[in-house]
Order: sequence, then C-alpha cells, then structure tokens
Amino acid sequence: MSSIAEPALEFRNVTKRYGETTVLEDFDFQLGAGEKVALIGPSGSGKSTVLRIAMALEDIQGGTVRVHGIPLWLDGVAADRAQTRRARARLGMVFQHFHLFPHLSVLENLTLAPRLVNKKKADEAAEQAIALLRRVGLEDKAQAWPEQLSGGQKQRVAIARALALQPDIMLFDEVTSALDPEMVGEVLEVLRELGETTSMSMLLVTHEMAFARQFADRVVFMDGGKVVEAGPPEELFGNPREERTRQFLSRVQPM
Ligand SMILES: Nc1ncnc2c1ncn2[C@@H]1O[C@H](COP(=O)(O)OP(=O)(O)O)[C@@H](O)[C@H]1O
Ligand SMILES: [Mg+2]
Repeated sequence: MSSIAEPALEFRNVTKRYGETTVLEDFDFQLGAGEKVALIGPSGSGKSTVLRIAMALEDIQGGTVRVHGIPLWLDGVAADRAQTRRARARLGMVFQHFHLFPHLSVLENLTLAPRLVNKKKADEAAEQAIALLRRVGLEDKAQAWPEQLSGGQKQRVAIARALALQPDIMLFDEVTSALDPEMVGEVLEVLRELGETTSMSMLLVTHEMAFARQFADRVVFMDGGKVVEAGPPEELFGNPREERTRQFLSRVQPM
C-alpha cells in the first residue's frame, strides 16, 4: 500500500556497524514524497552510508528502512528478495565517480538496464535515451564512447542513465566532487533543472553549500552518524541552532 502522505524514504532507529565501528546509531530520517533534501556533514559522518542503505547495498544491524512504504528492513530483519527488488526499483543513484560502462556507447549505457530490467523494446529504449540525452544537453554524444567525454559530460550521462529506469527517488552522492572546477556548473545546472521540473523526491549529498541553499526544500546536517539539525535552507545556513552546525558551516562556507 502506498499513499500520498507516505514518505519516499524512511529510516527509523537505524544502527549500522562495520565490525567494531558504529557508523549510524538510532538514525532517524525521512524524505517526503517530492521533497528535495540536501544532506550535508563532515567527511566520515555517514552520508554515503545512508544512501547505500537506501539502495539496499548495505546490511544494517537494527532499525527499520522503508521506501514508499515498502520495507527493506523491519526492526533489523531484512525484507524478502521480492520486496527488496520492489523497493529498489523506486530508486536511482548517481555516484561521485560515474561508473559508466566503458565498453558501451553512451546510448548503450542508457538503454542497457531499461532493456534488461524493464524489458523495454530496443527502439523504445533508444527513443527514451535520446530524450534523456537531450535533457542533459548531450544528444549529439549518443554514439560516443565514455572515454571521449569530459568529466562533466560523463556525469551528465550517468544522471541520464539513472533517470532511464524512471525512479521516483533520486540519490546523488557528491556528484560534482570529482570534477574539475570548470565542469561543476554544467552538472549543477542539470540538477537544478531536474529539481525544478520534476516531482521526483531527491536526496543530494553535497559540499556545494551555495547550491544546496537554492536547490533544497530542507537541509539536513549530520555528524557522527546522527542528524544534528534539519530545517529550511534559510534557517539552517542563516541561523543554525546547534554549535556543531555552526562550526561545520564556518569551515565550509565563507562568512
Ligand atoms: N566498507 C567499509 N568498511 C569499514 N568502514 C567503513 C566502510 N564504509 C564506510 N566506513 C566508515 O563509515 C563511516 C562513514 O562513512 P561514509 O558513510 O562514507 O561517510 P561520508 O559519506 O559522510 O563521508 C566512516 O568512518 C568510514 O570510514
Ligand atoms: Mg561520502
């Protein structure tokens, strides 16, 4: 069952450990349906772990995780494979390092999963892929190989590829951090356009504070595996309540 009021993503009381190291403890977080959230925090605070858990790429040791109401984990117990697959199908993710398939053309990078996973016909998948490439400003690169693209172009292809599976929720993990500075803008522009024109829920891990401020409905600051503070960008950036938030912001954004 799913309803309008149901969050896109829900983490309740989540504990995540790697061996002896506790990465998330009693972690609570919700991403509303259609909401655009920027997740910020120091390196090692657990941001990527949150995204990877949502993508069913990580085990957890306790708590509940739901994707549009579909459980991935219930009180520390993993859902069965069918449910995990259903939950997983609602999500798309873009990584810092693009992970394009190097032996496939740009077009094939975009059509592979729709054909294999969604059983799309080749011509339909290609038509959709071209439309997505147009959207990220790369329709002339359909026949190019990944190695012929700049970093910014690769990342725009990676975004288009994630969109090709028509997710309801998009997760972005520092997608501009590996780029040369002159290419950051073109990728942020694609994110901005997506944020403004789609009803997808979006969770964006970023160090681009100026962009987070204009992109996000809500900013969540985490540190040490917990949410320290969350609020509208004007409040969190303009008037943070917590000392830890203030210290972090003073390090990453010029006053
Ligand atoms: N595969 C792993 N094995 C052991 N420790 C890990 C692993 N992945 C992440 N960690 C640890 O978990 C913590 C949180 O990591 P991460 O979620 O990547 O943080 P962030 O994305 O906020 O920088 C860090 O202390 C990191 O060293
Ligand atoms: Mg990370």
